[in-house]
Amino acid sequence: MNVKLRVWRQKNAQSAGRFEEYEARNVNENMSFLEMLDVVNEDLTKTGKDPIAFDHDCREGICGMCSCVINGEPHGPEDKVATCQTYLRSFKDGETITVEPFRAKAFPLIKDLVVNRSSFDRIIQAGGFISVSTGSAPDANSIPVPKQDADSAMDAAACIGCGACVAACKNASAMLFVAAKVSHLNLLPQGKPEKDQRALAMVAKMDAEGFGACTVTGSCEAVCPKGISLNFIAKMNRDFLGAMLRGG
Ligand code: SF4
Ligand code: FES
Repeated sequence: MNVKLRVWRQKNAQSAGRFEEYEARNVNENMSFLEMLDVVNEDLTKTGKDPIAFDHDCREGICGMCSCVINGEPHGPEDKVATCQTYLRSFKDGETITVEPFRAKAFPLIKDLVVNRSSFDRIIQAGGFISVSTGSAPDANSIPVPKQDADSAMDAAACIGCGACVAACKNASAMLFVAAKVSHLNLLPQGKPEKDQRALAMVAKMDAEGFGACTVTGSCEAVCPKGISLNFIAKMNRDFLGAMLRGG
């Protein structure tokens, strides 16, 4: 198949950006979107032009590095997949596809389609951990965890930290990401001793990093490649309010 691309090109955060048009000819419909960008980049490199900068690592939907907005949707048209798991068969032959970076104040642009998401790392550093003495692995079942809590914690832990929820939100809110990370630990016995501190510190850091407020539009859940539920935002709000009432 052949597709036309309108790709956002921007040298760095200081320079002005613009869309540039490219053609991907004779590409296989079973190629991933990133493989198609590889082909386009190969052609650009061969003709001495600057290849399109885009983020990727695992290309298996695990690492959260890929981060394109494709035809206006973070991670493209398919449900519950990351950009790297989006295939050309999801597009029509001859279609013009618009590719942009995740746009948010707290994700400053580095180059082209690459943005700096280290604000997420700093939120994790504020409380996305448990303080335990390391040592040998505890015996299995030495800390009983109710099945429902274990299942919910696993659902929250599925968040790959990609930032699509922020890119989709009109307020550039990071609530879905933070709620997933807070809930994943707060639900488990190992995370309970620091439950209050975690909710307060991670929310405070999220605000300090410049993410917007949540107005529960649900756009985050709709684009999340891991299907993280809005219910986790409600849970984090309860954890946060409880922590405030207990004296913060
Ligand atoms: S909640 Fe979903 S969209 Fe947001 S960072 Fe996690 S995996 Fe990505
Ligand atoms: S490259 Fe790892 S999730 Fe897409």
